[in-house]
Amino acid sequence: MTQHAESALRADRPQPASADDHARSADWWRDAVIYQVYPRSFADADGDGMGDLPGIRARLPYLAELGVDAVWLSPFYASPQADGGYDVADYRAIDPMFGSLPDAEALVDEAHALGLRVIVDLVPNHSSDRHEWFRRALREGPGSPLRDRYHFRAGRGEHGELPPNDWESIFGGPAWTRTEDPDGTPGEWYLHLFAPEQPDFNWQHPAVHDEFRSVLRFWLDTGVDGFRIDVAHGLVKAEGLPDMGSAGQLQLLGTQQLPFFDQDGVHEIYRDWRRVLDEYPGPRIGVAEAWAPSPERTALYVRADELHQAFNFHYLSTDWDAGQLRAAIDESLTSLGAVGAPATWVLSNHDVVRHRTRLGGGLRRARAATLLMLALPGSAYVYQGEELGLPEVLELPDEARQDPSFFRDNGQDGLRDGCRVPIPWEEHGPSYGFGPDGSWLPQPDGWGALSVAVQTGDPESTLEFYRAALRLRRDHDDLGAGAPLEWLDAPDGVLAFRRGGLVCAANTRAEPVAWEPARGRVLLASAPYAGGELPGDTVVWWQAEATEGTGA
Ligand code: GLC
Repeated sequence: MTQHAESALRADRPQPASADDHARSADWWRDAVIYQVYPRSFADADGDGMGDLPGIRARLPYLAELGVDAVWLSPFYASPQADGGYDVADYRAIDPMFGSLPDAEALVDEAHALGLRVIVDLVPNHSSDRHEWFRRALREGPGSPLRDRYHFRAGRGEHGELPPNDWESIFGGPAWTRTEDPDGTPGEWYLHLFAPEQPDFNWQHPAVHDEFRSVLRFWLDTGVDGFRIDVAHGLVKAEGLPDMGSAGQLQLLGTQQLPFFDQDGVHEIYRDWRRVLDEYPGPRIGVAEAWAPSPERTALYVRADELHQAFNFHYLSTDWDAGQLRAAIDESLTSLGAVGAPATWVLSNHDVVRHRTRLGGGLRRARAATLLMLALPGSAYVYQGEELGLPEVLELPDEARQDPSFFRDNGQDGLRDGCRVPIPWEEHGPSYGFGPDGSWLPQPDGWGALSVAVQTGDPESTLEFYRAALRLRRDHDDLGAGAPLEWLDAPDGVLAFRRGGLVCAANTRAEPVAWEPARGRVLLASAPYAGGELPGDTVVWWQAEATEGTGA
């Protein structure tokens, strides 16, 4: 409470240095490159093998120099870490493993001083089972008013021995766990769309709304620039919690509305939160992690009076194929354009196989995919370590794994640890510079060859390639939110477009093609490019010749 009060007093904390350009500043989020930090795995200052806020603070200059506009921090709140911190026990406290509230405040201030915005993760679909409300709900037994803030139900079957409905957890197994009454007899069940340690809130309850409005204000008062909203599509459940009537529900995720995902009622919550965000000088933004069935349904989350951005999971799930990419880009631009929201683009995050590995073409294809993404209109997300060209770590021993879905059958693939292996900062050392000692997940041999230290200053390195691309993207008026995208005719397997004076071509096939768009000056290529033909798995940016009437 004292800490809360202290933060509230500091509501007038310094805003980003880049605020000098007012117009641009107000629209900063429309074309920002936002860098995702997974705090456990970024940098460990205290040597406990786990990344922390002081570690992140010390690396902020690296992020500023990389050329990103904002940092999104995955959860650092008090948590038993049943799901890497996405199980929050106290929304206003920092887990001691990550540091303290003053550390978080210093991080926000220092980021602002470097011109970086800070977005924090908000987890409103569920709390930890160690959250005070849930503990009291269990302790007080059936009939406790605290139980109404979650979804407690009697079981089905003669003795209540069957779950209240047939919903499956995203992490595998039933979405319900049975409780024990205070006297030790089997009691009611509670709903958890994710792990049993993550009970779902009941968003029909006014106390839940009040609490999250207050949590938003708590972090806005510390000066954060926005929120990434976890499972934004899940908060509202269909009235009566009806059966799905089918097994294999995971296969349906993201393909249609489900009784627990993408219910229309969620939008009222975001309209309410938008009013809170708009009370603050800013703008302060909301970003939806919404796995909706279509780009059109995703766009509903970013209507003018709701959130600002939504992750583009349709793009993330698209194969490295010119036709499919073009369709995904068109659909995204059309559906988001219709509601006046910027498109966003993302290739990697802490839940999916790193794109160097996922796209199946190694580093060469990963760099190409990145350069394509950074040429698209709107905002882009970069996940820590992709600027080093890190691959997915596939050979983690089972005993090292921590992803909760790994321990439950038939859920999400359970292999999310391989993209969470701590970052190599130095070539040598016990954890390649991640910290003074070891790391919570084993880093593969040779990880140091991909380190920041080794890549810095090497013009061929992936790190310098990202720096160059981000610098160009920031400096070129036609990139980011700049000029509209116009497709150019191109052979099969090639994607080519113009944005004002910028021309981008992507050869998505492994073989070279004897084709190039209109000649111009090469600005950047994702692989060695000599002109004359477009090499396989390569993206090139050109500045079009002025004679072509592009205004270049
Ligand atoms: C989101 C997070 C993921 C987490 C889940 C449950 O999808 O990105 O890491 O496991 O929500 O909170």
